[in-house]
Amino acid sequence: MKVPFLDLNRIHNPLKNEFVEKLTEHIDKNDFILGNPVEEFEKEFASYCGTSHAIGVANGLQALEIILRAMDIGPGDEVITVANTFNATVSSIVAVGAKPVLVDSKDDFTIDSSQIKGKLTNKTKAIMPVHLYGQACDMDEIMNIAKENNLYVIEDACQSHGAIYKNKRAGNLGHAAAFSFYPGKNLGAFGDGGLITTNDSNLAQRIRMIRNYGQSKKYHHDISGINSRLDTMQASVLRIKLKHLDNWNSQRKKIADRYISSLKGIVELPKTSPDRDHIYHLFVIRTNKRDELMDYLKQNGVDSGLHYPIPIHLQKTFSNLSHKKRDFPKSEEYSDTILSLPIFPGMTNEEADHVISQIKSFFNASLK
Ligand SMILES: Cc1ncc(COP(=O)(O)O)c(C=O)c1O
Repeated sequence: MKVPFLDLNRIHNPLKNEFVEKLTEHIDKNDFILGNPVEEFEKEFASYCGTSHAIGVANGLQALEIILRAMDIGPGDEVITVANTFNATVSSIVAVGAKPVLVDSKDDFTIDSSQIKGKLTNKTKAIMPVHLYGQACDMDEIMNIAKENNLYVIEDACQSHGAIYKNKRAGNLGHAAAFSFYPGKNLGAFGDGGLITTNDSNLAQRIRMIRNYGQSKKYHHDISGINSRLDTMQASVLRIKLKHLDNWNSQRKKIADRYISSLKGIVELPKTSPDRDHIYHLFVIRTNKRDELMDYLKQNGVDSGLHYPIPIHLQKTFSNLSHKKRDFPKSEEYSDTILSLPIFPGMTNEEADHVISQIKSFFNASLK
């Protein structure tokens, strides 16, 4: 049996006619950038997250960058974030000329909030927690530190569409949040896409302007901006898919529960907290035999992934941050031991059982 890491056809095929009908409409109307479907999607996504505003942009990286710009964060400022994340989190801070200040992660893979206070300086302007793999960070602790020190909190929610922390959705936990609609995300477009949520009306207004050349109205450029607009076609695809997000997330959760009940004691399983709802964008296990297990799974038809094989502080592009090995021991340990297993809506129990049985047979063989 072959088990893909992700099979988007299983998500898209049942909705194909709906997509084709909508996309044809856009071709007929020559409706391609921003416009009514984007506005409708923004309203629907804001209501889904429980925020007052949602603003569609071109991708998750620029969502983060635009939030930073709208908060006037730039050269001379510092933003605290985590060493175990995707490049874009830190690149957004670099893009506005601010300095990323890293802290380590803890055993649920999210930022270790107990380390944040030790990194505060008089240049710190914001904290950027990442709800990594689909699970929210310790937002109460982070918001308390922010309040005491007059800082912004920018959620990197690019992997956590629909995740819940204490009855509130990701995207509604900080001062602003960035989402990515890269096709493989729990809510993905047919190409790049992104969105920003916030409850701050002034910030929302600036964000709307910055995403579209700083314009307050056509050809009135009041502030400096960029071109980071959400395409109409992507918004229509996302509107169709948003209706299914909760169902898809619960299908992921069922596969996760199956893995958890069968792999207990065999590998290190993802740590979850009862006060939050993990939406399993990725199901990440840990084992000291990671590379051998990954090869074994590959030979036996199971695709798996590494998110991420090199922590931020050891990436060449961030060498000017002057970090060295052992600076963030947890993040380094994770990058050597983590393995992401297949998990996606439409994945069958038989496929999950095949993954489980291959993992078990790998460990049985390696015990001999
Ligand atoms: C944690 C995180 N932040 C930011 C991004 C950037 O999103 P995009 O690829 O849409 O620019 C991603 C996308 O993979 C991500 O996983």
